Amino acid sequence: MKKWLYGIICILFVASLTACGGGSDKDTSKDNNTTTENTADKAPASNTAADGDKVFQATCAACHGNDLKSGYAADLDKIGSKYSKDEILDIIHNGKGQMPKQNLSDEDADAVATWLAGKK
Ligand code: HEC
Repeated sequence: MKKWLYGIICILFVASLTACGGGSDKDTSKDNNTTTENTADKAPASNTAADGDKVFQATCAACHGNDLKSGYAADLDKIGSKYSKDEILDIIHNGKGQMPKQNLSDEDADAVATWLAGKK
């Protein structure tokens, strides 16, 4: 009788160990997957949304101001109603008047132009 009980306890113990082991293994890989998926999911979204902003802060804000209008250069807070994205791209790539052309990758230029074109 005692042996039988011991056997059950043993099996339960081993089973719970296995369950725990397997479970945490799965959890870890799930966590990893979720983390990767989350980053992958979030990255493009926040990249497209934030990248224009980021590029602007890194490249344009020194002259145009962090809030698009406090810099010494032309206000850009309503630039989207003045220029299309393509026109802004053109200004970024070729400069305009006092503004030197900006050395940005096509991707960054596109992101910031898209972002600015939405400022109306
Ligand atoms: C070195 C300073 C400087 C930097 C950096 C700069 N700009 Fe300018 N920007 C100017 C000046 C000055 C003007 C006004 C040019 C003029 O009309 O003579 C201007 C004008 C503009 C205009 C046209 C505004 C209008 O109403 O006609 C746009 C659009 C613009 N900048 C976008 C950008 C973007 C986007 C960036 C970053 C990728 C950037 N600028 C970086 C100085 C700068």
